[in-house]
Amino acid sequence: MNDQVKVLIGTQWGDEGKGRVVDVLAKDADVVVRFQGGANAGHTVIVGGKKHVFHILPSGMLYPGRTCVIGNGLVIDPDELRREIAELDPKPESIGVKLLISYAAHIVMPYHKKFDALAEAARSANGAGAIGTTGRGIGPCYVDKYNRVGIRAEDLVSPSILEKKLRVILNEKNPILEKIYGAPALDFDELYGLATQWGKFIEPYLGDSSLEIDSAISSGKRILFEGAQGTLLDIDHGTYPFVTSSSCVSGGASIGGALGPGRFGRVIGVVKAYCTRVGEGPFPTEDLGETGERLRANGAEFGATTGRPRRCGWLDLVALNYAVKVNGIDTIALTKLDVLSGIGALKVCHAYELGGKEHAYFPGLATILHDAKPVYRDMPSWDADISRCRKFDDLPKEARDYVRFIEESASVKVGMIGVGPGREDTILLDI
Ligand code: IMP
Repeated sequence: MNDQVKVLIGTQWGDEGKGRVVDVLAKDADVVVRFQGGANAGHTVIVGGKKHVFHILPSGMLYPGRTCVIGNGLVIDPDELRREIAELDPKPESIGVKLLISYAAHIVMPYHKKFDALAEAARSANGAGAIGTTGRGIGPCYVDKYNRVGIRAEDLVSPSILEKKLRVILNEKNPILEKIYGAPALDFDELYGLATQWGKFIEPYLGDSSLEIDSAISSGKRILFEGAQGTLLDIDHGTYPFVTSSSCVSGGASIGGALGPGRFGRVIGVVKAYCTRVGEGPFPTEDLGETGERLRANGAEFGATTGRPRRCGWLDLVALNYAVKVNGIDTIALTKLDVLSGIGALKVCHAYELGGKEHAYFPGLATILHDAKPVYRDMPSWDADISRCRKFDDLPKEARDYVRFIEESASVKVGMIGVGPGREDTILLDI
């Protein structure tokens, strides 16, 4: 297996515990690259009992001497980024961490957040149903990117281009704000002033991420691409329209991380030992009863970005098999296995019932998924605390069987198992 360039992605609806896996993998990586999404993500890393939540910064920021790249595929909220950098402890400069922000990353402007909120309210009011976005302006920012009216990081330090772009944008957006939404118009001076101030802050970090990654590879350095959200939230391959607006699958690393697909090595899919989802949309194994409550309580399933309680349910192997194929997953990182200790009767979904028939494949038609009923297999459960297990054989037999069952069903080996929230609460196999 080529382990020089690894890609890590979520296989479910985000919140699989990617932050802690990236943190473990960053130990062996020289460069950590975020390639999509923005401050909608919340990657939690616990080091020495201290909790760090990364929203835009790559989760490798706590390892001395690393280069962390914010790739062209991101949408950056500069205020959030500044806050995150300010809160870092230890400070990047004190441990030799270099942060590089791609010139081509897009900027989340205040009007993107405004449009995010207005569009959600309109969807709710007209009966289409809200998506349940994080309110971070992600969708509207990507819309502007693809409509070729986005502000890129490079524009923040080019006053004349910034001015021209902002004038075009205001001409387009103000009539929509005023006439469609009855909201106040945007003020050019205010936005220009803010963007210029952001430019001063961001300038020292700006650079060519493609060049940086390419020369790192040429000099034998190891690269880790850190995905955000998850396969089922991917704009193309997720449960559309209840998805985010970026490419969360492994292919997104090529586009948003500026590296040709042939240069990638191992693809690691992060799988939580059960499923959760925040926001609206189909979730076949959701448990609205006591089990769901227990999973939420045991797993502290509240959003790292929004604090919203997550919807919870059993592991969905139909969806996992789909994620394995869409991403080309070589290795599974299984997280939060400890949350299942003492959970009582344990189940996994191995098929969906649709129209009276069992289906082992994830339906290609998004609309069908709403009617999919999970077909469960009962699994033997265990009560022992597994948080101190550091070797696979330390796990109770039932937990080992659970892991083996996932491997067999997905035809992919589990390379790492998370048995607790801390950096050290990990069983490392081959990852
Ligand atoms: P947006 O990305 O804010 O536009 O939200 C679109 C959908 O993706 C909503 O259902 C959000 O709850 C969900 N979402 C976005 N980011 C994350 C994440 O990092 N974890 C889990 N769900 C997310």
